[in-house]
Amino acid sequence: MTHSPAVRIDGKAFAAGVRGKVAARVARLREEHGITPGLAVVLVGEDPASAVYVRNKGIQTLEAGMASFEHRLPETTSEADLLALIARLNADPAVHGILVQLPLPPHLNADPVINAIAPAKDVDGFHILNVGLLGTGQKAMVPCTPLGCLMMLRDHLGDLAGLNAVVVGRSNIVGKPMAQLLLGESCTVTIAHSRTRDLASVCRGADILVAAVGRPEMIPGDWIKPGAVVIDVGINRVEREGRMRLVGDVDFASASLAAGAITPVPGGVGPMTIACLLANTLTACCRANGLPEPEGLTV
Ligand code: GUN
Repeated sequence: MTHSPAVRIDGKAFAAGVRGKVAARVARLREEHGITPGLAVVLVGEDPASAVYVRNKGIQTLEAGMASFEHRLPETTSEADLLALIARLNADPAVHGILVQLPLPPHLNADPVINAIAPAKDVDGFHILNVGLLGTGQKAMVPCTPLGCLMMLRDHLGDLAGLNAVVVGRSNIVGKPMAQLLLGESCTVTIAHSRTRDLASVCRGADILVAAVGRPEMIPGDWIKPGAVVIDVGINRVEREGRMRLVGDVDFASASLAAGAITPVPGGVGPMTIACLLANTLTACCRANGLPEPEGLTV
C-alpha cells in the first residue's frame, strides 16, 4: 500500500499555544483577583542536565507571569533538611506548586520526599494520593509529560474512544500514568515493556503508539500500523557521524513512512512537558482559591 508521509506533530508550536493560554489566564487572575500563581522548584546537588531543566523552568514560569521560587541545596543535604524545606513550602500561601527535581543524589530516597509534598501542590502528580486519584478516575494532579501527550492526541484525533493504544514503557513518570489517561479516554490499552514477547506484533496492533522506553530508535517503521499516531517520548543522546544528536525511541525516518502522524525528537513531546508544568501550577492555584479551572489545560 502506498501512503503519504506522516503529519509531523509540532510540539514546539503546540507548547507555545499552551503557554499563551496559561499566560492569558494568569494575567486575568492578577487583574480580577490580585492573585499570582507561584511555582517552587527544588534542586539538590549539581547534576548538569537537571540544572538546565531547572533554569528553563524558572525562565518559562516568569515568562507566563507567575512567581518562581528556586531552592538549590547542596549535594550533601540530609533527608531531614529537605523535608523541612518542603514543610515550609507546603505552608507558604504564595507557593501553589512544588517540584523536587529528580533524580535525587543516591543517599536520598525519592518516595518519602515526594509523599511529603502537599498533594494539592504536587504539580508533578507523583504523590501517592494523586497516583491513586488518577487510577480511580478522580480529579488529580496529572504528571506533565503524559498530560502533554494526551493534549496532542486529543488535538489530532478528537475522540479517542475504542482505539487500540499501546504504551511501550512502564515507568511511574510516563508509562503508567499515560496508560491510565488513555484508559480514561476509553481506549483499549496495552502496556508493553522490555520483557514483552513479540513486541513487534503488539506494536503493529496500535492505533496510538506511545514510546517511552529510553532506547534510541528501537521502534522501526515496520512495527507501525499504517496511519497510526505515534508519540515519541524518548530523548536519547547518541553520537552520529562524529556529532552528538538527540533521537527518540522511534526510528523517525522509517516510522514517518507508515504513521499517519508522529512527534519528532527534538520538538515533539519535550517542549510540552514544561508547558504542562505551568498549566498544572495554574490549575493548582485556581483550585486553591476556589476559582474555575483553566479550560483545555486539565483532563
Ligand atoms: N526529572 C526528569 N523529568 C522530571 C519531571 O518530570 N519531574 C521531576 N520532578 N523531575 C524530573
